[in-house]
Amino acid sequence: MAEVKILTKNEYLVGHLNEDVQPLVDMVLEKYHEGKKFYEHCPFSDPEDRAIALDFSTQIQSIADQLIAEWKKAFDQDIVLCKPMHDPNVRKGHAYEIWGIVNEHNQGLQKHTHESKNNYELGAHVAATFAIKVPENSGNFIFHVDQNPYIPKNVIEKPEVNKFIMFDATTPHFVTANQSDELRMIISMNFRFEKGTSVFQQGHSDQN
Ligand SMILES: [Fe+2]
Repeated sequence: MAEVKILTKNEYLVGHLNEDVQPLVDMVLEKYHEGKKFYEHCPFSDPEDRAIALDFSTQIQSIADQLIAEWKKAFDQDIVLCKPMHDPNVRKGHAYEIWGIVNEHNQGLQKHTHESKNNYELGAHVAATFAIKVPENSGNFIFHVDQNPYIPKNVIEKPEVNKFIMFDATTPHFVTANQSDELRMIISMNFRFEKGTSVFQQGHSDQN
């Protein structure tokens, strides 16, 4: 008699919201042109990351609430947004909560992850991306899975406006180059598990 067991699995969540994305496009574009970027506060080591600071509008709060509810429904885990960018801890390298990314022609995003390098317990534990302007051929979101380093695998998620992807923040991912002549825009968010919950018991456990 033999038993098949699962050593590890990495589930992610894909869905669609029903947002009027125009106000979000307008805000990201405005901030982009204002040059309100904050590389210096960016916890990512990847210099290609072009995080744009956004206003925490009612709509963004609503999107965050919807994503939190979707994650709870899918995995029965409570998550909350990471710290706002003005929090002093963010400047120490902890993950921040929301930002925008604009990819111009030929720009993509190099492979990266979202977790904090100096204290994983503070998050990010769950990362999310939400597409607000993704013209044809403006780049695909791709997970890079290399559990077996000799047989790495790329998993492609094609972008659609209003589509969200939520995933373990430590999962490497990248975005292919924007081959269109229009801008590609997304909003990203970082979440952490609720305080008091051991993140090390929160994994997508097979014991449930
Ligand atoms: Fe990312």
